[in-house]
Amino acid sequence: MNSTSKKLAVITGASTGIGYELARCCAADGYDLLICADEPEIFSAADRLRTNMTSVQAVNADLATVEGVDELYGAANGRPIDALLANAGRGLGHAFLDQQWNDARRVIDTNITGTVYLLHKVGNEMRSRHDGRILITGSIAGFMPGTYQAVYNGTKAFLDSFSFALRAELKGSGVTVTCLMPGATETDFFERADMLDTKVGQSKKQDAAEVARIGFEAMKNGEGDVVSGWQNKLRSAIALVTPSSVLAEMHRSMAEPGSGEKHR
Ligand SMILES: NC(=O)c1ccc[n+]([C@@H]2O[C@H](COP(=O)([O-])OP(=O)(O)OC[C@H]3O[C@@H](n4cnc5c(N)ncnc54)[C@H](OP(=O)(O)O)[C@@H]3O)[C@@H](O)[C@H]2O)c1
Repeated sequence: MNSTSKKLAVITGASTGIGYELARCCAADGYDLLICADEPEIFSAADRLRTNMTSVQAVNADLATVEGVDELYGAANGRPIDALLANAGRGLGHAFLDQQWNDARRVIDTNITGTVYLLHKVGNEMRSRHDGRILITGSIAGFMPGTYQAVYNGTKAFLDSFSFALRAELKGSGVTVTCLMPGATETDFFERADMLDTKVGQSKKQDAAEVARIGFEAMKNGEGDVVSGWQNKLRSAIALVTPSSVLAEMHRSMAEPGSGEKHR
């Protein structure tokens, strides 16, 4: 990217859903954008985000791979990254042993390995400049064992935990780390995870623009974490005082294939 006096935000998973809305928040706040996703739809998202005021560069790369992360990082071309919104992620429904191993692994590689690798690269650069804002999209799913979504919830538990540890390590460095923890949000997520026949897949969900606005504000204010919406705040508070075995059964009722039919 060309160097300019404007700040640069890198947003992953910005083709749709929460990531697209986070990119809109960044653009409205005056950032130039470097956005990434794994399908060519990222280019049409870039066209919609680009204005006379906002320069937008799109990268179509698979962030489940080292090469994809390197491609995204290289696209900044040495320009300092002022904000990193590490949001790309995918879910996967069904019982673990019924999932294809490659699909389960892709969830881990995208949500954990690719995210952490990108954070390592960008975090080092921010720390050396004593300046930066990081937002990681975790989830309230990280608070509960994800029966019929076991791998996904495990990845989000990792990110929720990792975010707080990185924040503590960077205390006083000028770099802040914020974890956005949404609950069920209206995006393509449940269709991509093959969970449209589940109770959670069919439930009323939070608006993605609202979730993104809450996360963006928390990042700007340098907060440690934010759970989007009072119902999710209540759910996460309950999860903290409920035995894991009970939470696992609660999750079964929400995510078991076909639970959406029983729910009607
Ligand atoms: N929706 C919810 O209920 C919910 C709740 C809590 C947390 N979250 C989290 O919110 C984040 C955004 O999800 P969303 O709900 O907005 O779903 P979404 O609309 O499906 O967006 C996911 C984004 O991540 C990108 N992505 C996925 N795998 C990728 C890969 N390997 N490389 C590059 N980009 C990749 C997708 O692009 P491609 O299609 O091009 O791969 C897309 O842009 C995820 O981290 C998710 O875990 C969602």
